[in-house]
Amino acid sequence: MSERIFEEELERESVFRDASKLSPDYVPEVLVHRDEEFRKLTQIFKPVIESQASQRVLITGSTGVGKTVLARRFGAVLEATAKGRKLDIRYLHVNCRKDKTPYSVLAKIYQYLNPRWPYHGLGPEKLLDTAVTYLGAHDAYLVLTLDELDYFVQLNGPDLVYSLTRAAEETGGPNRISIVAIARDKSFLRALDAATQSTFMHNVLPLDCYTAPQLADILRQRVGEAFKTGAVEEETVELIADIASRWGDARLALELLWRAGTIADGEGKDVVMPEHARQAKAEVYPEVKREVLRDLQLHEKLVLLAAARRLRVSKRAYAMTGDIEKSYRVVCEEYGEEPFAHTQFWDHLKRLDGLGLVDLQPSGPGHRGHSLKVSIQEAPAEWIEREVEKLLERGK
Ligand SMILES: Nc1ncnc2c1ncn2[C@@H]1O[C@H](COP(=O)(O)OP(=O)(O)O)[C@@H](O)[C@H]1O
Ligand SMILES: [Mg+2]
Repeated sequence: MSERIFEEELERESVFRDASKLSPDYVPEVLVHRDEEFRKLTQIFKPVIESQASQRVLITGSTGVGKTVLARRFGAVLEATAKGRKLDIRYLHVNCRKDKTPYSVLAKIYQYLNPRWPYHGLGPEKLLDTAVTYLGAHDAYLVLTLDELDYFVQLNGPDLVYSLTRAAEETGGPNRISIVAIARDKSFLRALDAATQSTFMHNVLPLDCYTAPQLADILRQRVGEAFKTGAVEEETVELIADIASRWGDARLALELLWRAGTIADGEGKDVVMPEHARQAKAEVYPEVKREVLRDLQLHEKLVLLAAARRLRVSKRAYAMTGDIEKSYRVVCEEYGEEPFAHTQFWDHLKRLDGLGLVDLQPSGPGHRGHSLKVSIQEAPAEWIEREVEKLLERGK
C-alpha cells in the first residue's frame, strides 16, 4: 500500500525541472538589467587587479533589488579574473545578520583563509592579526563583503569596520583587505568615524527598485532554468512581475513564481496559470481584508464580482473594461438590480482600483477608445468572488 503511494509520488509529473533554481541563495550566471552596476563595480575594483590597492564600496537598496546576488556574482568573476592574471584574490561573502558578532565575522575570515586552523580560544585581535599575516605571507588579497552591515553596526557599533579598514596599518605593508559593504541605505555610515565614512561615501552604488518589465525579464530567465518547457504561461509571468513591481522586489517575484508552481503541482496541472499566481499572492500577502469588502457599496460589490468572475472564468491575467461592464450587467440581472450607466460603472471601477482591490492599466496598442486592462492581484479571483457573493446574499 504505502509502497504504491511512494511509487505514485515518484512518478508524478511536476511543472518544475529544478525548483532549487528559484531559491534565494542561488546565484544565476547572468544578472538581468544590472550591467551598468556590474560595470561600475568593475571600475571601482580595477585598481585592486592592476595595482593591488584596496578598495571600499557601499551597495545600497531595498529588499530584493539584487544587492547580495550582484556582490556574489561580482566576487566570482573577480576571483576568476585575478586567477587568470596569477593574482591571489579571494572573495568572501559574510552575512552579518547570520554572523552577528564581530567575533563570528572574524572567525569566518580566519577559517576561510585556512579551514584547518583551530580558532577556539583565540581573541578577536589575534584572529585578525593572523589573517592579515597569512595574506601577507601568501601575497594574497581578500575582498570581503559585509552583507546587511547596517543591521550589524546597529547591534555592535562601528568597531569591527574600523579594525578591518585599519588592519594593515601596523604591518606597514599594503592593505590587503577590500570591503564591499551592503546596506539598505547609507544612513548607518553616520555611526562610523569620519575617515571610514568618507572612504565609503566615495563609492556608493545605489540599486534602484526593479520595474515590472525588468522583473518579467528576471522571471523569464529563471523560468527557463527552473521549469519544464512550456510549463509557465507568459501571462503568469507578467502578472507576477506586476504584483512584485509595487515593491520592485525580485525576491518576492521569485517566491511567488515558486509558490505558483507548487500550487499548480498540488492541483495536478501541467501549466502554471495566472490563477495560481493569485493564490500564491494570497498566501504571501493576504492583503484583501474582509472589512474592506464588507464596506463596499452595493454596486461596487457588483462590479468587483463581475471582474472576479470574468478573470476566473477566462483564466487570463487581465480583462478589458468593456468585457467587465458586460459581466456587470449580467451580474445585476442575477441580483435583480438595475445596472448603472457607463460613467458610474467607471467611477465604481476607479474606486475599486483606489482601494487596491483591482488594478487598472492602459491596455496598450491594439485597443480603441478608453478601454483599460483590469487585473486582480491581491488574492485569487475565486476567493474574492466567493466572499462578495456571501456579502451580497447577506444583504438581500
Ligand atoms: N538582476 C537580477 N537577475 C537575476 N536574478 C536576480 C536579479 N536581481 C535579483 N535577483 C534574484 O532575486 C532574489 C533577490 O535578490 P537579492 O540579491 O537577494 O536581493 P537583496 O540582497 O537586494 O535583498 C535572488 O534570488 C536573486 O537571485
Ligand atoms: Mg541581500
